[in-house]
Amino acid sequence: MSVLWYFELVGVIIAGLMFFDWFCEFYYYLRAYCAHKNLKKYGRESWALITGATDGIGLGFAKVLAKNNFNIILVSRNPDKLASVEGEIKSYGVQAISISKDFSKCPENPEEFFNDIDEKTRDLDVSILVNNIGWAVAGHFHDSTPQEVANQNALNIWPIVYMTKIFARRMLNRAFPSAIINLSSVGSLVPVSGLTVYCAGKSFDHLFTLDANEEIRYLAKNEKLKGIDMLSLQPGLVQTPLIKDFYSKPLVISPESCAENALRVLGKVNYSSVHWKHMIYAMGYRNIPWYINAKVSLKTLLKSNKRNS
Ligand SMILES: NC(=O)c1ccc[n+]([C@@H]2O[C@H](COP(=O)([O-])OP(=O)(O)OC[C@H]3O[C@@H](n4cnc5c(N)ncnc54)[C@H](OP(=O)(O)O)[C@@H]3O)[C@@H](O)[C@H]2O)c1
Repeated sequence: MSVLWYFELVGVIIAGLMFFDWFCEFYYYLRAYCAHKNLKKYGRESWALITGATDGIGLGFAKVLAKNNFNIILVSRNPDKLASVEGEIKSYGVQAISISKDFSKCPENPEEFFNDIDEKTRDLDVSILVNNIGWAVAGHFHDSTPQEVANQNALNIWPIVYMTKIFARRMLNRAFPSAIINLSSVGSLVPVSGLTVYCAGKSFDHLFTLDANEEIRYLAKNEKLKGIDMLSLQPGLVQTPLIKDFYSKPLVISPESCAENALRVLGKVNYSSVHWKHMIYAMGYRNIPWYINAKVSLKTLLKSNKRNS
């Protein structure tokens, strides 16, 4: 057989693998797109705990879950904002409590920090955990201060790991299934230069969720326990204070729409950008060569930073 024949064979195998990858991804998007909400299975009158719950996506989750009759535990930094949001959530006819925590402090003594949240919620039947807290600093990585780097890691990485560890065990002992939603980002899929520390952290969150999901599934099966629906949520741009410079971009969605769509796919898939607009983002991101995306994203972010300075 000629050398050309071997080249053709390699070409056909590579094309086949790429097609298989696209097909699986497309099937996954389709499944998420067609999913219907089923929140009753998590147990009536149970509680949802949301970190970073006084603004943006966290507040969106708090409102949507309260409208679906979940009692709400709000965990955030500012006591005044917490009191005001707690009042708003109670107006939906559910119970709400607030825990004031500054997550930038969590790496100082993580055990004490996260055990405190565990203890304050011990008597409540928490069925849904939304690990939403996160923070981003846009610009050149080498210009960022040590505090900016430390805070991004403290908010984007530590809470997801510790909260999942504490609550997974509690949830596995429930009589009903439970759910953990970890906020990653569409920026976890490829390099987004100019958001270097943030997007690397979000990639960590995504892989952590998929890995933990498999471990929890194994544990639940072996110990004959109710499972936990794990979701790595990878939205594109959501209209929140975090991205106020990008409100004019196309495909921006509201925090409520983000939450509503996430709850629709919960239990059906383990990762999703959830809204059709953001599925377009995700598909594009996955299929644009990473080095092109890195260049374009850096230019866009630096342009926006210059405009604002
Ligand atoms: N917005 C997007 O386009 C987008 C896209 C993809 C992924 N995400 C992810 O979604 C999550 C939420 O983003 P967002 O845009 O909704 O954020 P956001 O609008 O900035 O909301 C931040 C929330 O977190 C709280 N918070 C901030 N710093 C805190 C701290 N040190 N300790 C305790 N609470 C603190 C704020 O409370 P205070 O008001 O008390 O400060 C507020 O409730 C993040 O993980 C983000 O990475 C967002």
